[in-house]
Amino acid sequence: YLLGLDIGTSATKTVLFNEHMQVEATASENYPLYQPQNGWAEQNPIDWYNASLHTIQAVLAKSKVAPDAIKGIGLSGQMHGLVMLDSNNAVIRPSIIWCDQRTADECKEITKEIGAKRLIEITANPALTGFTASKILWVRNHEPQNYAKCAHILLPKDYIRFCMTGEYATEVSDASGMQLLDIPKRCWSDEILEKLAIDKKLLAKVYESPDITGYISEKFAKASGLSTKTAVVGGAGDNAAAAIGTGIVKEGRAFTTIGTSGVVFAHTDKPLIDPKGRVHTFCCAVPGCWHVMGVTLAAGLSLKWCRDNIATDFKEKDKDPYVLMNEAAAKVPCGSDKLIYLPYLMGERTPHLDPECRGVFFGLSAIHTKANMIRAIMEGVAYSLSDCYDVLKEMGITVNEMMACGGGGKSPLWRQILSDMFACKVKTLTAEEGPALGVAILAGVGTGIFKDVVSACDELIKVGSVCTPIQAEQMYYKKGHTLYKKLYTQLKDCYH
Ligand code: XUL
Repeated sequence: YLLGLDIGTSATKTVLFNEHMQVEATASENYPLYQPQNGWAEQNPIDWYNASLHTIQAVLAKSKVAPDAIKGIGLSGQMHGLVMLDSNNAVIRPSIIWCDQRTADECKEITKEIGAKRLIEITANPALTGFTASKILWVRNHEPQNYAKCAHILLPKDYIRFCMTGEYATEVSDASGMQLLDIPKRCWSDEILEKLAIDKKLLAKVYESPDITGYISEKFAKASGLSTKTAVVGGAGDNAAAAIGTGIVKEGRAFTTIGTSGVVFAHTDKPLIDPKGRVHTFCCAVPGCWHVMGVTLAAGLSLKWCRDNIATDFKEKDKDPYVLMNEAAAKVPCGSDKLIYLPYLMGERTPHLDPECRGVFFGLSAIHTKANMIRAIMEGVAYSLSDCYDVLKEMGITVNEMMACGGGGKSPLWRQILSDMFACKVKTLTAEEGPALGVAILAGVGTGIFKDVVSACDELIKVGSVCTPIQAEQMYYKKGHTLYKKLYTQLKDCYH
């Protein structure tokens, strides 16, 4: 058996698989996101720990699998979040997570210290508020007393690894999002660390994603019921993990995911870099390979915001509100009767790299209903993902078809909209486990159950349904996308 954990932004999901990667048991536990100020986003690492512990206990109890029979565990999770531990391994402050936008000044500081061109050469990305380096500098600049206490810096899933194994370890795909890694060389960059005056001793050891990083400690075995014989492999950041879970392990393959954030992700055998820095180039979980991805910050988050603040009356006994919202949106025509939504609730990364912009409903009319707003949100998120896809195309990345995953990828309507906008087939898998499946496959490779990542994916990943573009809608959205893009261009000065 193999276990996969995905420490996401809304919940931790834990899935136990047998060696054919069939699901034996699954459990998930939600936790809050704190927004102490506009544009700030924090979570409590202890919540991640509790959710990980409880969901592991739950899958063990549900499946009745003997703990010794679990050969390996893979960890996946939200990227970029900053976890600081003191010398007693206590968490110093809440984690500043990926969608937090408070660090625009620190990004300027990073660019000044390293130089814009050199920064892209080494880290493959311009300084970004979402990435960990600027969050580290923010704590140093604003909370020097906390920085002085810091003995270890970890990413969210790597903090859970530490709690499970006692090892300070990370792996190349997640470490890529810290802006401290030399992306072409796949190791910490001494040059960046020296120029930013960050002590390398604070950072974890970097592994390739399928490598074993340690075994379950006595302490965690007692708490969780797991065995000390079980290995924990590097795993991957949630997007690199989803790539494994959807079989995006060769050039020409790509996927899009709609979780809290949204991503368009393509595998590359070489570190391809966008000189304008609009998309991220990171190491991927296939050893020796890379990926390019564009990120929409508020994808599923936009629909969640709508569920919690607008569609509050979409309630029916035993029905998920998202299912009701989808049903309502499917009755609205393509284009939402000319209502357009810009999904910039938390600023935007691709393609604008703008932490200040915010969401917009454009063209609101007295005929519009909540259903129009829901569909407009789904379309607005898909326009933003099309912006990501367009940058990949500009970089010469060709994609014939796209896999869809994440919570939003479960919606047939959203998949159809994506297929119409991308003008290509959008496929789903028979399995819904995405990142958890991906890292469980990595655990299978690390423990010798599977030969290597690519052959394991080719054998284990099975395609489910396929959406093909509807021509009339494709034409409509092509025009709609031009207007969508114009709106940001016209509005961008108004945000500052
Ligand atoms: C990727 C990113 C998000 C998080 C969300 O760069 O910031 O996709 O990983 O979980």
